[in-house]
This record gives sequence, C-alpha cells and structure tokens, in this order.
Amino acid sequence: MRYSEDLIEEIRMKNDIVDVISGYVKLQRKGSSYFGLCPFHNEKSPSFSVSPGKQMYYCFGCGAGGNVLSFIMEYENFSFPEALKFLADRAGVELPKLEYSREAKEQADRKALLLTINKEAAKYFYYQLYTEKGQRALEYLKGRQLSPETMKKFGLGYSDKFSNDLYRYLKNKGYGDEVLMESGLFNADEKHGMYDKFWNRVIFPIMDVNNRVIGFGGRVMGDGKPKYLNSPETKIFDKSRNLYGLNLARTSRAKNLIICEGYMDVISMHQAGFTNAVASLGTALTSQQASLMKRYTSQVLIMYDSDEAGTKAALRAIPLLKAAGLSTKVIDLHPCKDPDEFIKTYGAEKFAERLEKGMNSFLFEAKSLEMNYDLSDPQGRTDFFHQLAGRLASFEDEIERANYIDAIARRYQTDPAALKKLVGRLALKGAGVRETAKPKSGVNREKQNGYDISQKLMLTWLVNEPGIFAGIEGLISPQDFTTPLYHQVAEMLFAQHREGEVNPARILNYFQDGEEQKQVAAVFHTMLPLQTAEEKAQAFRDVVCRLKESSIGWQSDHLAPTDMAGLMKLMEDKKALESLQRGDTPLHISFE
Ligand code: GTP
Ligand code: MN
Repeated sequence: MRYSEDLIEEIRMKNDIVDVISGYVKLQRKGSSYFGLCPFHNEKSPSFSVSPGKQMYYCFGCGAGGNVLSFIMEYENFSFPEALKFLADRAGVELPKLEYSREAKEQADRKALLLTINKEAAKYFYYQLYTEKGQRALEYLKGRQLSPETMKKFGLGYSDKFSNDLYRYLKNKGYGDEVLMESGLFNADEKHGMYDKFWNRVIFPIMDVNNRVIGFGGRVMGDGKPKYLNSPETKIFDKSRNLYGLNLARTSRAKNLIICEGYMDVISMHQAGFTNAVASLGTALTSQQASLMKRYTSQVLIMYDSDEAGTKAALRAIPLLKAAGLSTKVIDLHPCKDPDEFIKTYGAEKFAERLEKGMNSFLFEAKSLEMNYDLSDPQGRTDFFHQLAGRLASFEDEIERANYIDAIARRYQTDPAALKKLVGRLALKGAGVRETAKPKSGVNREKQNGYDISQKLMLTWLVNEPGIFAGIEGLISPQDFTTPLYHQVAEMLFAQHREGEVNPARILNYFQDGEEQKQVAAVFHTMLPLQTAEEKAQAFRDVVCRLKESSIGWQSDHLAPTDMAGLMKLMEDKKALESLQRGDTPLHISFE
C-alpha cells in the first residue's frame, strides 16, 4: 500500500526546488546556489540555501534541510503522503489509487460521503448566520467580541429554529436517510421521524488537520442547558484523535502549542494573535491527541481553566504529554477563569507575558500535591516529602533529578542532602528502575567526532566534485562509512554512480522521518573553509586516512574470531592505511 519509488521520484523531479521554495521564501542567487532567510528559525541574515544542482535545501544556521518533499512536509506540516499529493497536484501528476480491498473501498467511499454531507451542512449553517434569521446569533458572537474575519476563519454558523430544515435541505440534495442518520446531524423518533439535532444554536464546525469538517459543536446563545451540544462520534469523527484548531495551529510559527479546554478559548486566542492554540473536543485529553501534537511540536503549554476541574485535568494531561515525548509547562490564568476571559480583561500583551511565565510541570504537580497534606504538621510534611521523593526517583536523567531535588528543597525549605538520600533509597528499591548505560566503545569522543565529519565531508565531495569517484576507486567503498546512517547513504550514492547518475535529492526520498532527512541533508552540505587547491588536496588525504582508520576500528570490533576472509581484509586495509599515511599512495584528484 505504498507509492512506487519511481512515482515518488517523478513527482520530485517535476517540482523544481527553486520554483517551489520561491513561493514561500524570497531567494537570491549567489554563485551556484540561492540564499534566503530561513523559514524554520528566526534570523536576520540569510543562511538558508537552495541548490538547483542538488535539488536540495539546507540551512547553515539551524540545520534544517532536505529535498522538495521534505520542504513541503516541514513548511506545511504535512505527512509524507500529504506532501506527495500536494506536489503531485502542483505538477499535474495524477496519483494512482492505491489498491484497496473491496471492503476497505466501501468504507472509504462511505467516509467520503459523510465528509461531503458535513461540508454541505457547514455551508448551510454558515449561510444562515448572515441571513435575517441569523441576526441574533450574529449579535451574540459580536457581543463576545469576535470580529467578522475571525468568524469567517473558523467558519462559524447558525442552526435556526425550524426543527427539520437542514434535514429537508440535504434530502433535496439527494442523500438517503440511512447515511444522513449516520452523519450524527439528526435525531429520530416515531412521532416526528427524522429531525435536526442542532436547533437555535451557534455552530462551531470541527475540522481535522486537513481542513475537512468532521463534526460540529453547537452553543446556546445565553444560559440554556446543555451549553454545548456536540456531534456524536461517527465513522469520520473520532474525538480522541483530533483537536479543535489544529488545522490552523499546525502552520503557526510558534515554538509550542497551547492546549486549552474550550472552542471559544481557541478562537479568542487565535484572534489575539496566538495562533498556536488548540482544544480537545469536549472530552479529557487522550494519548492519541498527545501523539498528534508531537507531530507538530516538542513543547505544550497547558492552559486549562483555573478551577478545580481544570487543575485535575492538567494533572491528568501532564503524564500523557510526557509519555508522548513532549515537554510541558502549566500556565496560571488567575484571577481569570479561562484564556478567553484573560484576553478580554487584560489584553494580548499581558497574555503573552503569562505564556512566558509557565510553571514547570513537576513543580505544578508538587504544588497540587500540597493540598493533600498538612505541611505544618511534622507527619504531614514527612508524608508529603516521601510522596515527592517517589516521583523524583523516577527521573531518568541524573542532572535533571539533581536539579529538581534542589528546586523542591528550596521551595519547601528542607535539607537537600536529606531529600537526596531519601530519593536515592527509593530509587534503589526500584521506584525508578532504569536501563543500564551501554558501555562506551574504546574510541574517545574527539576521535569519533573526527570520523563523523570525515564521513560527511566525503559524501559532500562525492556529490559536489565530479572527479572524486574516480579518485577513490579501489580505496574507499561504502563499507568504510561506519555510522549506520552514513553507510546507508553511501551505499545508495555508490549505486547511483555505478548506474551513471548521482542524484542526492532522490536519496532523500528514502528517508521519510524528519530527523533523518535533516541529517542526510547535512551530509550533503558539509563544508570546510578551504581555499587553495593545496589545502583541499591535503584535506582530502586526511579524510581518506580517517575514513580508513575508522573503518579498521569498526572491523576489529566486529570481527568474529573465525572469520578468515574478514581478517585478510582487515590486514589489507591496515597496509593500505599505512601506505596512505606515509604518502606512498598517490591520490589523483583535482578539485574544481
Ligand atoms: P464559553 O462558555 O462560551 O466561553 O465556551 P467555552 O468554549 O469556553 O466552553 P467551556 O470552557 O465551558 O467548556 C469547554 C468545552 O467543554 C467546550 O468547548 C465543549 O467542547 C465542552 N462542553 C462544555 N459544556 C458542555 C456541555 O454542556 N455538553 C457537552 N457535551 N460538552 C460541553
Ligand atoms: Mn469560556
């Protein structure tokens, strides 16, 4: 169920990287590359380069890099299939339908139909808001200080007072009762038949990350009950896997996401310029939602209501977010109840200050734990510290643990040494069992670093300098690249050379994980400040020697005692290295 490698490559080739990126970043030609301000970090002078020759981009400032597919993935926050579809459309390439089973196809068709129905309904609600009948709803939203642009941006609407006009509207469009029932937009009973679920409410369409309407929330205008009515879960509406506002927040340039409780909070924050706000869909945060956020950020600011329920929700959210690999901070909104109220009362500037003052989530947990103990009583204090120490014992990183012990000791005025001892005791008891660290290899870190750079530099040269493959023939092979990722890249590059076309951007198609793409892009953009031909020739000899050295080290570490062929190869390599180091082996290479 994957697209063929040839198709991916065709789409990549039909989207010239300079053309595509020019649509997002102002580029200027400088030598054989283009330069501009990096869209992935803040900078004043351009270190973001786009190479038409390599069909790759690379930022010398922050290390972002890849081919045109990775650019679209990173800039638009698309998954690989989404980016592929985007670029296929741009180039007018039709993606073949992937082979589905009949059952899967029927499911997919059903989902598509439900999405169409939701879209029709959203348009209908939207239209109603601006008619005579929607006037009160429009006034209500204006009264909540939403601007016309904000209402449009979130596609807000109104469901009027007739009990079945949406039903009739959709029936007229030809949809059958069965699928309409499945959409969750209607109720049915014997007396009335089918009728609209949303009645005289302001409508908040709920979209997935791809801007498809998957459900609705409807709010009463005023104090009626229930305050919100939400679509039930359907084939296309999974409340545990979507977040309100993420379709907009995913392209926000902020360094984190803000998670809050309510639709109105999200809208209010976006309107005030905090376009990184999202909310769960009327249910508690789930681990799937945490993973979803992890796709777009590494830090989440928790901004739940400042009541007891909000605090409880935050305490439940912290471990979920942590488990997904997200760092978290908790924002205190006192004396206000929620973000919406805070922004209205104190304005965006003060709100931004609060964002900066997020509380470390462990200290937040400690503070909440306080409530359960009487800290003026010696026994209460003892129990409290035991509880905290148990949690501290499970910190994996030693420095982190020490820092937290200090912070807690300072905050609650206790002896750090005693607390440390307690934590240590609990850790030994298994409160925080950790993996034992891997034994370090014999090579020291500095040397390892040198090997690393040598491998990268050689890979950069192999794509930049036409004569270099000939120059290393019989001397360097993919086996000499010992870092697993570089080894993989080298294998592909040598294979491309054998087949007559060196094409680094194509190699990137194989790496669909963002981190790996960055590393591979860096591999093709390794530079040394070398001027003269002589300097380059000397660097080349050094790099070849170091590659051999590292390769020999790796072979001796991994050689089975019975592997005679391996042993022979090792001896040969050692000889070759010695000859290189003595300068006996001539290296024929001329840099351009
Ligand atoms: P405002 O009160 O208009 O500011 O709305 P809000 O978005 O701030 O909502 P609130 O903080 O009261 O609630 C948070 C979220 O919980 C809402 O966005 C809804 O998703 C959900 N919710 C609130 N009230 C109800 C309810 O009565 N029924 C259901 N099913 N969900 C609700
Ligand atoms: Mn609210």
